[in-house]
Amino acid sequence: MAESEALDQGAIIEFPGGKRTAARRGRARRVVAIGGGKGGIGKSLVSANLGIALAERGSKVVLVDADLGGANLHTCLGVPQPRVTLSDFVEKRAARLEDVVVATGIDRLELISGAMDDLDAANPKHSQKAKLLRHLKTLDVDYVLLDLGAGTSFNVLDFFLIADTGLVVMLPEPTSIENAYRFIKAAFFRRLQTLAPDDDFASLVARALAPRDGHAAMTPMDVVVELRKTNVEAAARLEHALAGFSPWVLVNQARTRGDHDIGPTVVSAWKKFFGLELGYLGAVAHDDAVWQAVRARQSLMRAFPQSPAATGLLRVAENLIALER
Ligand SMILES: Nc1ncnc2c1ncn2[C@@H]1O[C@H](COP(=O)(O)OP(=O)(O)OP(=O)(O)O)[C@@H](O)[C@H]1O
Ligand SMILES: [Mg+2]
Repeated sequence: MAESEALDQGAIIEFPGGKRTAARRGRARRVVAIGGGKGGIGKSLVSANLGIALAERGSKVVLVDADLGGANLHTCLGVPQPRVTLSDFVEKRAARLEDVVVATGIDRLELISGAMDDLDAANPKHSQKAKLLRHLKTLDVDYVLLDLGAGTSFNVLDFFLIADTGLVVMLPEPTSIENAYRFIKAAFFRRLQTLAPDDDFASLVARALAPRDGHAAMTPMDVVVELRKTNVEAAARLEHALAGFSPWVLVNQARTRGDHDIGPTVVSAWKKFFGLELGYLGAVAHDDAVWQAVRARQSLMRAFPQSPAATGLLRVAENLIALER
């Protein structure tokens, strides 16, 4: 990969709600991204089993392993590593994204497996990434579910931001809650960057969010009010950015009653900090059935449909469906 192309990964991609372009012409009814910043919190488990639950309820679903560096979604589904992967499309060995879609053995559920064979695919060129994001929107299905990799790199955030619905997985632990907060904040600022790359209001918001002299940090909404006094146009753009950014939070590996109840508390605290309309999608129990299913090389939903984790994921799927009503 040429150095200029490698550096290109931070270049601006156009998103829904931002500069509306080809992305809006797609046929996928809903693109849902499952992220959370940290590794090992259950993003792939949630993606795979939400996909199964939505398919079982009659939706046509494509699951996309967008973890370009460490794909393992097929394992959560209990299917062998597919022969064709996303890297075949990214590296132009497959002409159409549809050519790398494989069956999962579950009705209405298909998979685009992540790149395993090609390290370059973990860091695609800007043009490759833009093409991939654009094509994801054109898949002729009810749901495209994107299982994201860990971290807050632009590659991860750009997949998160292309989605109609962004889902943030977190564990009911202070460290994980902090990571989820950082992920949401990074995604928000990436969105601001895409909306107004040359503006200085992103740095203004960053400064406003940093608490000073023991005072509470200003929310982005406070910044809108401040900005209106001096720059009405920039304030309007920031307001637009806030209105179009509303991730949904899911708590995974809940062990106690308190763990199950923590989601709404965290979401309302973040609303206060961000001035954003965050939503809460539900909690999933910590459950031995999860590793038992993985060891048996089966999906949780199919191996242990009555387990607490599976029933929690089913409720999350129903909440996701309800968002559209
Ligand atoms: N609700 C749960 N109960 C018990 N174990 C769980 C639960 N959710 C996830 N796990 C376990 O946690 C581990 C990580 O899960 P998973 O691979 O889905 O995380 P991830 O966020 O996709 O990680 P990565 O960022 O590395 O892709 C797995 O071993 C999985 O079996
Ligand atoms: Mg994963």
